[in-house]
Amino acid sequence: MSVTPADVDTWFTEHLHLEDDALRGARERARAAGLPDIAVTPSHGALLGALARLAGARRVLEVGTLGGYSTIWLARAVGPRGLVTTLEIDPHHAEVARTCVDAAGVGDRVEILLGPALESLPTVPGPLDLVFVDADKQNNAAYVRAALPLARPGTVVVVDNVVREGKVADPAEDSTVVRGVREVVDLVATDPHFEAATALQTVGTKGWDGFLVALVAPGP
Ligand code: SAH
Ligand code: DHB
Ligand code: MG
Repeated sequence: MSVTPADVDTWFTEHLHLEDDALRGARERARAAGLPDIAVTPSHGALLGALARLAGARRVLEVGTLGGYSTIWLARAVGPRGLVTTLEIDPHHAEVARTCVDAAGVGDRVEILLGPALESLPTVPGPLDLVFVDADKQNNAAYVRAALPLARPGTVVVVDNVVREGKVADPAEDSTVVRGVREVVDLVATDPHFEAATALQTVGTKGWDGFLVALVAPGP
């Protein structure tokens, strides 16, 4: 059989009608503007949206906007009375994202804060129902820690790109990126403020990678 995981991903994306014109448009606009092709896949975006809906999320924090592709999935999930605050350091990315979320009809529920995420994070309105961490990986743990004062028991925390073609579990790997992934895994595993963490590996059009999912623990 010559079917690949990427073919299967594409098959489900088509057969589940995961993308509509607005999402395809956002992807194409980002590519045309020269942004790197590293947004979540449709399958991953749909999972993020489903997690946000399952959590009944109204307030979402995203760290790492890029062109706003994952932002659109989250903004749809929070509904017209919700708010997604998304943090982006690159002005060009933020500008493309603004165009894309507006074109998708969800611009009124998306706030894009420009600057280093560790600086803007303390100004984000809480309490947060879901946090999606998808920026510079060496700061993964710092972002999750900084989001804690804005969280509540049950806040869902999702961290992207924790598998990296298996590098996370390769003892020979010691890059800052992989260390950043391991640090956030250790954080949610050992800090009593978090619980019920799992990590899901994914294969598909973006290769072999995965999500870390944790919940903020009930108070003492
Ligand atoms: N969540 C997006 C992809 C984000 S890519 C999606 O799936 O559609 C990572 C983004 O994080 C890039 O746009 C990059 O500019 C941004 N970034 C990197 N370091 C950052 C920092 N310190 N603060 C805020 N954003 C940062
Ligand atoms: C990269 C970053 C991401 O957030 C991602 O989902 C894939 C790749 C990267 O920097 O290579
Ligand atoms: Mg990512």
